Amino acid sequence: MDIEKILQEIQEEIKPFMSQGKVADYIPALAKVDPDQFAMSVTLFDGTTHSIGCSDTKFSIQSISKVFTFTKSLNIYSKELYKRVGKEPSGNPFNSLVQLEYERGIPRNPFINAGAIVITDTLLSHYKNVNDTFEKVMDFIKAVAGDRAITHDQEVCDSEYAHGYRNLALANLMKSFGNLDNDVEDVVKTYFKHCSVTMSTKELSRAMLFLANHGTDPISNHRFITDNQAKRVNAMMLTCGHYDASGEFAFHVGLPGKSGVGGGIVAVVPKQMSIAVFSPRLNSWGNSLAGTQALELFSQKSGLSVF
Ligand code: DON
Repeated sequence: MDIEKILQEIQEEIKPFMSQGKVADYIPALAKVDPDQFAMSVTLFDGTTHSIGCSDTKFSIQSISKVFTFTKSLNIYSKELYKRVGKEPSGNPFNSLVQLEYERGIPRNPFINAGAIVITDTLLSHYKNVNDTFEKVMDFIKAVAGDRAITHDQEVCDSEYAHGYRNLALANLMKSFGNLDNDVEDVVKTYFKHCSVTMSTKELSRAMLFLANHGTDPISNHRFITDNQAKRVNAMMLTCGHYDASGEFAFHVGLPGKSGVGGGIVAVVPKQMSIAVFSPRLNSWGNSLAGTQALELFSQKSGLSVF
């Protein structure tokens, strides 16, 4: 398979989609991002990365961070975790409150905001305070990415906190049902911090490689999680990684994937490679429009999917 050629074709064919959609503006600092950017990176098991577009540009990973926090928490708590967060698609937008009320504060899955907030709460209980928890999450991201220089964007973090009414509402609702152990502000602050981590598509595709290889990084041979845990994280990405568009994504792309409102999407081709795309304009579900299209084109042209 000629990955370079496929990527070159995608770069051309993606152009009509680049002007469609809308940059996330409910986090004001994100609204300032240049909307016309596009990047895609594919990392193979030998560490080779093929890229097109602005693949060194760092962007806000937002909900993609939920893959790292869920992985970390699953590794610590194992099955116990599912007492507090489910494993079913929600069929609702990522920031929805309604389901959480009638399901008594137990979020459907770790990738909608409520679920990711519970996951952050479990990490906060384990590591005790905001700074140590965030440091451990960063250590994990740096380790899977094989890059100690990854940081976060405090301006995006502060901007989200200043406008974080829905997430604070979700957290307070869960606290009222007894599904949040720590202080609401601490949990939400830690959650915003990991959402504001910045990475490029090159870094992100490299960081996902362990999930394409049953939990072991094929480059360093370091095992981060068990085979079973990797299977669970991938299954969760496939069924819940794109919120109420998870079915759409599975239908059109056919790979476990996770999106973020910063315009990034990561995807995994089990046993072969990991992929990251970036384009800030989002579709109506809050997922990168051109990014989703690029992944669909990649799966079509390469014939790669889990189905
Ligand atoms: O909590 C939020 O709304 C954001 N920090 C993350 C949401 C997000 O990335 C949804 N992704 N498509």
